[in-house]
Amino acid sequence: MRHEIVEKNLGLMIVLIILTISGGFLAEVVPLFFQKSVNEPVEGLEPLSALELEGRDIYIREGCHVCHTQQIRPFRAETERYGHYSVAGEFVYDRPFLWGSKRTGPDLARVGGRYSDAWQRQHLYDPRSVVPESNMPAFPWLFENRVDHGSIEARMKTLQTLGVPYTDEQVASAAGEIEGKFEIEALVAYLQQLGTVISEKR
Ligand code: HEC
Repeated sequence: MRHEIVEKNLGLMIVLIILTISGGFLAEVVPLFFQKSVNEPVEGLEPLSALELEGRDIYIREGCHVCHTQQIRPFRAETERYGHYSVAGEFVYDRPFLWGSKRTGPDLARVGGRYSDAWQRQHLYDPRSVVPESNMPAFPWLFENRVDHGSIEARMKTLQTLGVPYTDEQVASAAGEIEGKFEIEALVAYLQQLGTVISEKR
């Protein structure tokens, strides 16, 4: 049987596996490189401000992405709860992306504007004071630590080289804009813009 020939011949099997995978890659992945809806920003998308970018780095440092996804799947149960499903063009400046894979807490892809700044601060200071059954940890140190303004310029330059369209003026003024701010201000600024570029709720 032909099948047996392949199973007993390791070299042939490896060649066929490589051919199959490359075929799949060509058909499924390569077309995406040329598809505008996937690699161009959605209308109105701006790179994060210096303060929001600092907030994003704090979000990563504190491991928020370990419990929260930022990706609404195109299913009714998700769009009813979270709003419009996520589209690729929203994430073109997101490096690395924070889609996540585990939801201990709710998805945050469109949490921007859902609560007031005051609610967000209170919730991060003491989650159980606003959601009694919450098992989210408290982050009180964000209210004491000042942001790391010394390295923001280098971080924005790195993103520039990766294709995020920051202007040189934006990079130059970044440190001054965020100096002296508390980490909580940066994190809340980041949260409040999440997903707001597409506001239509389904
Ligand atoms: C151990 C898991 C865990 C971690 C880590 C975590 N959260 Fe949560 N988060 C939750 C859970 C569970 C809820 C739902 C209960 C509640 O609202 O407190 C939640 C709720 C939220 C909400 C409200 C969402 C909504 O739509 O109601 C926000 C905003 C939020 N978290 C932000 C953060 C941020 C920012 C961080 C990092 C500083 C973080 N979380 C870290 C588990 C976590």
